[in-house]
Amino acid sequence: MTRTVAVVSNAEQMAHVIALRAAVFMSEQGCPYEEEFDGNDYSSTHLVGYVDGRPVATFRIRWFAGFAHLGRLAALPKARHSRIVPELVKRGIEVVRMKGYTKVYGHAQKRLVDFWARFGFYPTGRNEPIVWSDHEYVEMCGDLPPHPDRVTMEGPAMKILRPEGEWDKPGRLEKSAERGATNPVSQAA
Ligand SMILES: CC(C)(COP(=O)(O)OP(=O)(O)OC[C@H]1O[C@@H](n2cnc3c(N)ncnc32)[C@H](O)[C@@H]1OP(=O)(O)O)[C@@H](O)C(=O)NCCC(=O)NCCS
Repeated sequence: MTRTVAVVSNAEQMAHVIALRAAVFMSEQGCPYEEEFDGNDYSSTHLVGYVDGRPVATFRIRWFAGFAHLGRLAALPKARHSRIVPELVKRGIEVVRMKGYTKVYGHAQKRLVDFWARFGFYPTGRNEPIVWSDHEYVEMCGDLPPHPDRVTMEGPAMKILRPEGEWDKPGRLEKSAERGATNPVSQAA
């Protein structure tokens, strides 16, 4: 069994996200379409987990000043307990840390508080009742150590330009730099 995780960077991978969330949240958990696809998907980072090349799990990260909001974690029933979910969550946390965040926040379905605790997250303690799409949620957060290789303004300029989640290897624009600069502009400009 081969497990891989991708940070979504194209329309086909986004189709994987939508298919997986439709299957798990809309079909299995009866969530209405407009509540599952809540208007936040185009401003988020998405991850997809693959087992033997097939999309089986997904996870969403939203970005706010000072914290990242984790959510929409789902695995197809047949992929549960395959270890793809821990890999997906760990990769998501790595992305969050690489972007310089040290605080994560989320809403856990009540029955999954202990699941999120496995990743070091804990209830905020506010105990505000949170209900949506027919589930009760518990507010949880987590503190992450600063990533030693995180992307910063002071770091290499080209690292910032690499594709999201692929900051550990040269990106396509570093390759383009090999052509050198000719500073092209059209005659009309
Ligand atoms: C929640 C979900 C993503 C978990 O995926 P999974 O493949 O079942 O998770 P795993 O079996 O790999 O469990 C990962 C770890 O959490 C633990 N765990 C799993 N479910 C747990 C639970 N309900 N309570 C406590 N621990 C739990 C496992 O023992 C495992 O621990 P380990 O890494 O120490 O061995 C999956 O069940 C799912 O898609 N559910 C439907 C969608 C959903 O409810 N999403 C969450 C919305 S908050």
